[in-house]
Amino acid sequence: MFVSDCLNINPIGHLTIGDRDTVELAQTFGTPLYVMDENQIRNSCRSYHQSIEKYYGGKGLVAYASKAFCCKAMCKIVAEEGLGLDVVSGGELYTAMSVHFPAEKIFFHGNNKTVAELTEALEYGVGCIVVDNLTELEVLNQLAISMGKKADIMFRIKPGIDAHTHDFVRTGQIDSKFGLALETGEAMEAVKLALTLSHIRLIGLHCHIGSQIFDIEPFEHAAEVMLHFMAEIKKKTGTELKKLNLGGGFGIKYIPKNDPVEYDRYMKNVSLVVKKTCKELNLNTPFVVIEPGRSIAGPAGITLYKVGAIKDIPGIRTYVSVDGGMADNPRYALYKSEYEAIIANKAGQPKDMTVTIAGKCCESGDLIGEGMQIQNAAPGDTLAVLATGAYNYSMSSNYNRIPKPAVVLVNGKEARVIIQRETFEDIVRNDVE
Ligand code: LLP
Repeated sequence: MFVSDCLNINPIGHLTIGDRDTVELAQTFGTPLYVMDENQIRNSCRSYHQSIEKYYGGKGLVAYASKAFCCKAMCKIVAEEGLGLDVVSGGELYTAMSVHFPAEKIFFHGNNKTVAELTEALEYGVGCIVVDNLTELEVLNQLAISMGKKADIMFRIKPGIDAHTHDFVRTGQIDSKFGLALETGEAMEAVKLALTLSHIRLIGLHCHIGSQIFDIEPFEHAAEVMLHFMAEIKKKTGTELKKLNLGGGFGIKYIPKNDPVEYDRYMKNVSLVVKKTCKELNLNTPFVVIEPGRSIAGPAGITLYKVGAIKDIPGIRTYVSVDGGMADNPRYALYKSEYEAIIANKAGQPKDMTVTIAGKCCESGDLIGEGMQIQNAAPGDTLAVLATGAYNYSMSSNYNRIPKPAVVLVNGKEARVIIQRETFEDIVRNDVE
């Protein structure tokens, strides 16, 4: 009925997440409030894990892309489920380290890692640094020499795939700040150089073609392109790389008309292409890594707001204002991302109001969505925006000095705070008079 399995309606007509009434959660923990369902997160981790085991027979790893939603509790859940972790900054790495995330299962990404970040990664023994460019390669080799370590790396490759998604989240094409291009010979040059460096061990290749992708074909195509490059490397250098990281990007259902493919089908189809292409190219099947972020965290989360002012502009539109907005969810302002919204205390009623949901920031573009169908709203109602588990908390800001909401994790009937609500004291904490 809803975009996520963890959501339902209880006998008194309130929206539930797990076994909890969302109206009660809003009363208990305050609004705005992010709520995540632990079972939904764990089930997604497990289904990815099972698929990779099934199709690659123990020669595969699912690494959760923590940029989607990163905090200590999330890293712990992911570690308990046996997944690896994709981190892209010192802050994400620090969070992982603070819960002793297994270092060997961490992939460290980023197009401009600092010396401090690389040092931290080497010290912690991060399993794989995904090197983006030649500058980083040189810096990393020097650092590894000075620290007496050998760095295991992959190269981030732009496979030249045009995935059909929003421009800002497309990354596989040649005009991208990420990675090394195949067409220009830059990627091959980097591989040859890496093989000569004393403190670098090149273990594989990585690509990520974009995010919120619904088609299987671009993923299959990317796998083919990457394997052809592996074969070329073997031919030109005699080295057969052992690992292939195919990134994340699997689309989720934000609104009823979104129709994502079952993740198991992505995995199955891509694994068939991997095996067939390896056979054709006379390569051993590499160890395959995938990095889903949105599809693990996204469907597990909702955001609860309190409805405030309602402004009806006859013949134009009706604004329903909530006590959050672009500071906790900037995705409509950035990408015009669509969401489904529900009046949580009227969840069983028909949706017969078409509204623009506005936030409380001093900015006209501070909207959660336009032309949204919701139940008849009144001040004081609890509004739920669905499928906000990914790229909401992680992209939130303190614009207008708005404190970040708390995150509550629901497990059946249990609900616990996993990230505390910021206070005004937090807001001024680093100010110096
Ligand atoms: N691996 C790499 C190297 C990535 O860059 C990303 C996402 C992922 C994995 C995970 O992709 P996912 O499975 O979550 O689609 N802020 C944007 C999304 C940016 C994605 C950046 N990289 C949004 O809100 O839609």
